[in-house]
Amino acid sequence: MEQRRVALVTGGSRGIGRAIAADLGRTHHVLVGGRDAGGVQAVVDGLPSAEPFVADLAAGPLPPVPERLDVLVHSAGVEDGTTVAGTDRATWERVFAANLFAVADLTRAALPALRAAGGLVVLVNSGAGFTASAGGAVYAASKFALRAFGDALREEERGAGVRVTAVHPGRTDSDMQRAKVAREGAEYDLRYLLAPEDVAAVVRTAVDLPAGASLDTASVRPARVR
Ligand SMILES: NC(=O)c1ccc[n+]([C@@H]2O[C@H](COP(=O)([O-])OP(=O)(O)OC[C@H]3O[C@@H](n4cnc5c(N)ncnc54)[C@H](OP(=O)(O)O)[C@@H]3O)[C@@H](O)[C@H]2O)c1
Repeated sequence: MEQRRVALVTGGSRGIGRAIAADLGRTHHVLVGGRDAGGVQAVVDGLPSAEPFVADLAAGPLPPVPERLDVLVHSAGVEDGTTVAGTDRATWERVFAANLFAVADLTRAALPALRAAGGLVVLVNSGAGFTASAGGAVYAASKFALRAFGDALREEERGAGVRVTAVHPGRTDSDMQRAKVAREGAEYDLRYLLAPEDVAAVVRTAVDLPAGASLDTASVRPARVR
């Protein structure tokens, strides 16, 4: 039997990452990332071919990256901070550590395997990677920086056969979104949210493209607004 291709999905224990892990699990052996070993194991147990990749990526150290790696999806991320006036240095560092520095560290560790496989890096960015609004400086700055990281990485690795896809979802049903809506004091209404599976479908499109084509950037937003 032909060996499955290998995908590593950070943030695979919950939300968007879990939906991506489930979708890629149809065709790939999936390393499921997350900090909580129990949550990661529950996802692993539901997939035909999977293993845990448990680590706090912001703190390190990184677990070993598999020798074969076809797809690296960075979905782990955090949202924190309020206004510029109200946000301290520790919060800026915590958000950048998770949303940018961890992505750089894991990408660097994975590049030899990705080059060998002619692989794909998927960066789960955000609408906040394009537009910043009041009260969202920390998160948006980390996602703007992630966009710059992806743009540079894409051009650096084009010659090496590694493709880089940035996916920018709008508001998506997840624990992160529930917490955000609660902070806003609004009603949590699924009609105005993407499903995590919608984002996974975009990632699947990037994964299934012919090898000669790169989906550089995809913006996916809820069809309805409140
Ligand atoms: N939800 C939205 O509306 C939305 C919109 C646009 C973009 N995004 C982006 O989509 C990505 C996923 O968000 P989500 O809504 O699915 O969030 P979520 O439900 O809060 O899940 C976050 C995931 O990231 C993992 N994670 C967080 N910090 C980590 C760390 N330091 N080390 C390792 N894993 C860590 C969590 O692992 P544990 O389970 O172990 O905590 C969890 O699996 C994020 O990059 C987010 O910025 C979300």
